[in-house]
Amino acid sequence: MASLTGRDLICTQEWSRDELIKVLELAEKMQKKRFDKKFTKMLAHKTFFMFFYNPSVRTRQSFECAATELGGHAQFLEPKSMRLKTAKTAGETVEDAARVMSRYACGLGIRILEDKVSYYGEGDELLREYAKWSDIPIISMAHDKFHPCQGLADVMGLRRHLGKNLKGKKLLQVWGHGALSRSWCSVQESILICSRFGMDVTVAYPEGYDLDPAVIEQVRKNCRDNKAKFEITNDPRKGYEGAHVVYSRNWMTPHAYDKGEFDKQGEVEKALKYTEWICDAQKMKLTDDGLFTHPMPIDRGHEVTDEVASGPHSIIYDVAENRLHVQKAIMALTMEKL
Ligand code: CP
Repeated sequence: MASLTGRDLICTQEWSRDELIKVLELAEKMQKKRFDKKFTKMLAHKTFFMFFYNPSVRTRQSFECAATELGGHAQFLEPKSMRLKTAKTAGETVEDAARVMSRYACGLGIRILEDKVSYYGEGDELLREYAKWSDIPIISMAHDKFHPCQGLADVMGLRRHLGKNLKGKKLLQVWGHGALSRSWCSVQESILICSRFGMDVTVAYPEGYDLDPAVIEQVRKNCRDNKAKFEITNDPRKGYEGAHVVYSRNWMTPHAYDKGEFDKQGEVEKALKYTEWICDAQKMKLTDDGLFTHPMPIDRGHEVTDEVASGPHSIIYDVAENRLHVQKAIMALTMEKL
């Protein structure tokens, strides 16, 4: 396998399965021996830039801790402190910003989604523009299409709780009603990476909540390639039957940007009408002793009940912890010569 040094990570689909396993295996080692000397100097004296257009709890904290634990430093950046050119204002181009940042840092993470883009795909275009001009790896810290670090943390959690061979295990990716109006990034990344690892995938949502058709087509292909099952249902209960993992999450409709900006209020009003779309203990009884997961933050009482989110089958905190380990592995592999 070629070295991963210098590679961008915008979506896990763009990395081979062996490359993803390399990240997961290193992350698992780093979890077991968190402060071992062989890891704590990997990014010594190096800086990772974290460029956040949107708020974050887990991503910012885990990347900062990851850089510290590898002996380096993560610097928080916001667009408001950078005088960047936008559609409405004069300023620095992406080419100039990316080329200059490449002279300072060993990697650049970017988060841009929801109300910080004016159409679906604009965030993905921005990351790819940075990747075009940068000499350092560009890492998605969640953008409007994908969330690769979350997808890897999810799979690390499933490998721990279900075993390393995920083939034949059923993932239910289920929409939850709620007031957070979330982008498609985490759910699209989840169904892409889980189908790469041979899982059967069921996506359940009310009519009108379709995901990106190109992503669904890719997931269908991943499932075909792995002889796994794929289905979409608009029934709030059916998908639970026989599931080994239930991953609930609210997501926006394909009309969220019809007005040329993110219509959060309209999306929330629509979503809150579907009260039967909550993951609860009764539905979890239909599963095959299924695990519950969610990328967080959770809208408890809407997407999922407290009983399930805090219950014995919930792996939400393990998965949140995994963000630290997978990001340490990604940084070590892409920003250091391993
Ligand atoms: N899952 C996740 O990315 O969490 P934050 O939005 O808090 O970073």
